[in-house]
Parts: sequence; structure tokens; C-alpha cells
Amino acid sequence: MQIFQTIADLRQALKLVKNDGLSIGLVPTMGNLHEGHLSLVSSAGKQCDFVITTIFVNPTQFSPNEDLQNYPRSFDVDIKALSSLNCDAVFAPKVEEIYPAGPALDTLVTTPSLSKLHCGASRPGHFDGVCTVVTKLFNLCQPDKAYFGEKDYQQLTIIKNLVQDLNLPIEIIGMPTTRETSGLALSSRNNYLSLEQKQQATILYQSLKNTVKTLEQDSNPIFSELEQVALKLISSAGLDPDYFSICNAKSLLPAKPGDKDLVLLVAANLENTRLIDNISIKLI
Ligand code: PAF
Repeated sequence: MQIFQTIADLRQALKLVKNDGLSIGLVPTMGNLHEGHLSLVSSAGKQCDFVITTIFVNPTQFSPNEDLQNYPRSFDVDIKALSSLNCDAVFAPKVEEIYPAGPALDTLVTTPSLSKLHCGASRPGHFDGVCTVVTKLFNLCQPDKAYFGEKDYQQLTIIKNLVQDLNLPIEIIGMPTTRETSGLALSSRNNYLSLEQKQQATILYQSLKNTVKTLEQDSNPIFSELEQVALKLISSAGLDPDYFSICNAKSLLPAKPGDKDLVLLVAANLENTRLIDNISIKLI
């Protein structure tokens, strides 16, 4: 497995890969890899000839009051995990490599409508940072396929739209959320939680599952009422809910009566830790 820190070295290696006509699979990450990330790398290895994992804690997707400084970093452990998989290259640039003129860029990739919903409403600028860095990584790695977790459902939807709107010849592949046996979705931010808090946080998945059950049983559900029930349940477990939204799975707008293809999106804070989760459901 090759490790690159500079764009020049990455480009030189990828020239050879392209010359050999190999397909490239990209797994963009911010490191601190867990089983969810590793499942993306494994899938990329099955579907592509050459797999690149990027490790880059992207400063432009954090607001000034967020956890950029404390974001868990575990480079050596990550490299060990990746080298036991079919990962061919790691691109782990320094911030100056990606943002040579500083992170306050004048050129941004923005998706104004989707980015202002849900997580974007409480994290202004977050998705501009994500879209800009992901577009940079796409330009640098020139992948045929790129892999993202469904846990970040809004991010995945935005990136699928971005690729379509900018005519990028990249297939975006969303992979199912990996969970602990308790149901808690794996996330690097779970590292901030104590064992007791991890147990508390399972309320997010429980609230999603409860709502799915009601939706499946109720022939005429009132979405706003179900959202309120879920929000109360989350609060009563000691979390501070940001939103619980029953949405159209494609537009991410509030679901309308008769919508069948839905996604339930939730975000909540547990003390200083922001947690998100979701479930997709097709009503019949
Ligand atoms: O999902 C993440 O880890 C990040 O948002 C991503 C896609 C690597 C961009 O920094």
C-alpha cells in the first residue's frame, strides 16, 4: 500500500494506474476509521482495480465552534487497518496541500437548496465545505466509483446531485450504515461518548425504528405528529434533539401524504457530541 502526502506524488502514481487502464475506487474519509469505513474500502476493492482511501480532516466543513481541533485522529492505526484490506493507496495530505491559499477560498462548490435543510440549518457552511473538498478529491483522484456511507444520508444525496449537476463521470455508491449490536450507528464521534452515553444514544435508532413501525401499520399517518412523538422520546432519554424529519427520500423535503419512498432523518446532541442517524423506508 502506497501512502501519498502530496498532490504531485499522487498524480504521478495515478498516471501509471490510468495508463494501465485500471478502474479507480475512491473512499474519502476524515480518518479514525471504524468498521463502517472499512466496509466501504472492502466494497471498493471488490468492484475496482485500484482503491484509494483519503484521510483528511477537512477544516472547511467545521464551524468555528465545532470540534475540528478535538476531532479524533488515529493515523497509524488507520494505516494498519487499511493495509490489511485491499487498499492500494492512501492520500493523506496536509491542510496546506489542499488549501495552499488558506481555507477561506473564493471558489466554492455549493448546493444551496439541499444544503440549507436538516444538518445544514444548524451547521451553516458545513455542506459547502464538504462539497468543495469532495470535488477537489474527485479532481485529484479521478475515480470511476466513489463510496460514501448511508449514515450521512444528506451528504450522500448532496454528493449524488453534485456529480450529476457537474457532469462528473463518477458513480456514487452509498453503503449501508454499520451499527453496534445495540443499534447505535458507528461514527468517529462515538469516541467522545462514555459507555453510559453510548447506551443513551441508542434512543436515536429506537426512535427511528418505532416510527417505521407506526408508518407501516398506520394507513393514514400524520407525519408531523409522529415527528413530535419521536422528538419527545429522544428528549426523555436526556438528549437534545436538533430535528427528527420524515422526508421524501430524494428531495429531502418534508414528506407529503401519499409519498411512498421516505427517509427518516434524526440529529441530536448528547452533551457536546452531535449524533445523526436515519432509516429509509418504502411504504406499500
Ligand atoms: O463523511 C466524511 O467523513 C466527510 O464529510 C468527507 C466526505 C470525507 C469529506 O470531508
